[in-house]
Amino acid sequence: MNGDIEPVPVAPPWKRDFPYEAQSEEEVTRREFARYLVLGAGTMAAANVGIAIWTQLRSINTGEPRAIVDLAAVDIGSTYLFHYPGNDDPAILVRLTDTEVVAFSQKCTHLGCVVYYEPGDEPDGGRWHCPCHEGNFEARTGSVISGPPTRPLGRIDLEVRADGTIWALGRHT
Ligand code: FES
Repeated sequence: MNGDIEPVPVAPPWKRDFPYEAQSEEEVTRREFARYLVLGAGTMAAANVGIAIWTQLRSINTGEPRAIVDLAAVDIGSTYLFHYPGNDDPAILVRLTDTEVVAFSQKCTHLGCVVYYEPGDEPDGGRWHCPCHEGNFEARTGSVISGPPTRPLGRIDLEVRADGTIWALGRHT
């Protein structure tokens, strides 16, 4: 008996504002945290897939007709990078033969990674390759050869004009 008064424990303010009735507050908190984590991750994944689908559903041939490059400036089997239909839309063309040129959106139809051209043994025997998940597309048509993509690459309609310039035709149908 020294006359000291024992302090009365006082509940912290958060406990008064959010009085849990559960047997184990700690367990409930962890469970709820995990639920929010799963919910947040699911929402972000759904948003990413939605954005990828939206960008791929846009037609690629919606821009204004545009001169891209002189045919003579691209060697057979070589590629040329440009933007189409918008200035932020990466696109790529390849000269397959003396007269044949094809162009595609550079965005993979799986999750939007950048595709590039892998030459084959023959100048026109290459393919479009996406390194993210090993997606492969046919060089001429952009159709899926293998990997997770289910839709072909967005093909950009081209024409080689009389002066030798390659044009993206844009809205022409
Ligand atoms: S993003 Fe191209 S294969 Fe997945």
